Amino acid sequence: MSTPTEAAQSRAAFLRSLGLSATVLSAIYFGIACSKPAVSPAPDPTDGTNSEALAVGATDPFAGKIDFTLDLTKPDNAKLKTVGQFVSAGLIVVAHVKDGSYVAMLSVCTHASGSLWYRVSQNDFRCQDHGGLFTTDGSVKLAPPKQAVKIYSTTLSTDGNSLRVVG
Ligand code: FES
Repeated sequence: MSTPTEAAQSRAAFLRSLGLSATVLSAIYFGIACSKPAVSPAPDPTDGTNSEALAVGATDPFAGKIDFTLDLTKPDNAKLKTVGQFVSAGLIVVAHVKDGSYVAMLSVCTHASGSLWYRVSQNDFRCQDHGGLFTTDGSVKLAPPKQAVKIYSTTLSTDGNSLRVVG
């Protein structure tokens, strides 16, 4: 398992591969190096855990349209049948949220590109890097982020065994 700094550097390398400008990359690296909190908030033991989903389709929001399906009968995806659990499919985090619906969100914080995880105890998405919070509709709940994060539409199959994400 990678540390938050390694994960952030990996994300920055990914963004660099997309051809982002030196200015944008500098802002990302500056954010990584200079704006870490002195103490990371402790995880809530009642919250779900993240894992990598097995997705069929396009999961890269920077490569074009998002359109993928998660087979919820597969072991890596089955946890999504439980409220409060979430998985990452590429750069998209998919959560089974408190009201029983599904939320798919770009897992790139609008502050400095930290990863977002769902917290069922608070019914929000928390950035691992500096503790920014987003509501389930993508709005900012707590700074430092100032801009909303992108949300994708989700459709659960009638048998409840597959979840399509489009956006
Ligand atoms: S990267 Fe700073 S709050 Fe998300």
